[in-house]
Amino acid sequence: MSDRIVSALAGGGDDLDGEEVRLRPRLLADFIGQKQLRENLRVFVSAARDRGEALDHVFFSGPPGLGKTTLAAIVANELRVEFRSTSAPALEKTSDVVAILTSLGRHHVFFIDEIHRLRPPIEELLYTAMEDYEVDVVIGEGPSARTIKISLPRFTLIGATTKTGLVSAPLYSRFGITARLDLYDQEELEQIVDRCAVLLSMELAPEVGTRLARSARGTPRVAIRLVRRMRDYAQVWGDGTLTGAIVDRGLRALGIDHYGLDRTDREILSIIVDRYGGGPVGVETLAISLGETADTVEDVYEPFLVQSGFLKRTARGRVVTDLALQHVRDSTSISAQAISEQEGTGARPGLLF
Ligand SMILES: Nc1ncnc2c1ncn2[C@@H]1O[C@H](COP(=O)(O)OP(=O)(O)OP(=O)(O)O)[C@@H](O)[C@H]1O
Ligand SMILES: [Mg+2]
Repeated sequence: MSDRIVSALAGGGDDLDGEEVRLRPRLLADFIGQKQLRENLRVFVSAARDRGEALDHVFFSGPPGLGKTTLAAIVANELRVEFRSTSAPALEKTSDVVAILTSLGRHHVFFIDEIHRLRPPIEELLYTAMEDYEVDVVIGEGPSARTIKISLPRFTLIGATTKTGLVSAPLYSRFGITARLDLYDQEELEQIVDRCAVLLSMELAPEVGTRLARSARGTPRVAIRLVRRMRDYAQVWGDGTLTGAIVDRGLRALGIDHYGLDRTDREILSIIVDRYGGGPVGVETLAISLGETADTVEDVYEPFLVQSGFLKRTARGRVVTDLALQHVRDSTSISAQAISEQEGTGARPGLLF
């Protein structure tokens, strides 16, 4: 999936030159969108700092690429403390976690990504670490083994997940601040595109920013990726200036249509229309037809299709809307036309639509 340009998932070599790191907002003031959450964080961070206390534990959930990891790092920066980051699947043994926890300084931030994937013994250890700021460690083996308590500095655990439903109630209840990140609107995405262009020293015509934001599936990660790919096209196809014509051609080459849907999005809609009469179809069945997992369909593809009015989630399954029906018909006729136009050129029609 990493070859999917509009995939919201991380990866795909974005970070090879560290450019994506450079584009990350570092402070709340640089972070665009999620207004209410930003304001709340500003209050909680400044209150904790004024009282000289650690910030309460924070839980971020929401679809990939919306800024959970970025916000966690921002919280640490705003608190002016160290940021230690790991991901639940990397924590294999309880001793790994004890080693990290005991090395934390006062009020430091410990970030655990994919927190729904913690192993049960590690999760249990975190319960006491989060609540009582201590951990029980077993020393020795067999009959001579004994348990000692190690006290920890006051720290802030920040957990992030794309799947709140998979986080156990005891763990979830230990976070004092919980927030869900939502897909970004057009105006916010335009600001993100503009900010990215400025940082990359690119000049964007206003309609170019609008067009890229519309194709970003409500996701900053996708917006940033699109800007970077368009920069490549502008460099190779033109003189480096990102014109409307280059953007149109670039988006077509990436298989992104004027609604911002890519091939996989359109495939999902076509499957529901052509094979299941427009729905309802269960997400598991849909995932099998698509060759993806149900999780990926739910977390990565569906939020945008739902937000942009193509798909509805109902109790009996997924149903396409009239807009989707119309779009599937239009893309079918357009791709038929594209195939006849491309015949003999050796170009893959799939790259157009
Ligand atoms: N509000 C924002 N303003 C500007 N850039 C943003 C914003 N939110 C996210 N980004 C950028 O989008 C990219 C993805 O953000 P991030 O890695 O924080 O997402 P995530 O929610 O942690 O995703 P995942 O669920 O895949 O871990 C980063 O490169 C970050 O710089
Ligand atoms: Mg992340």
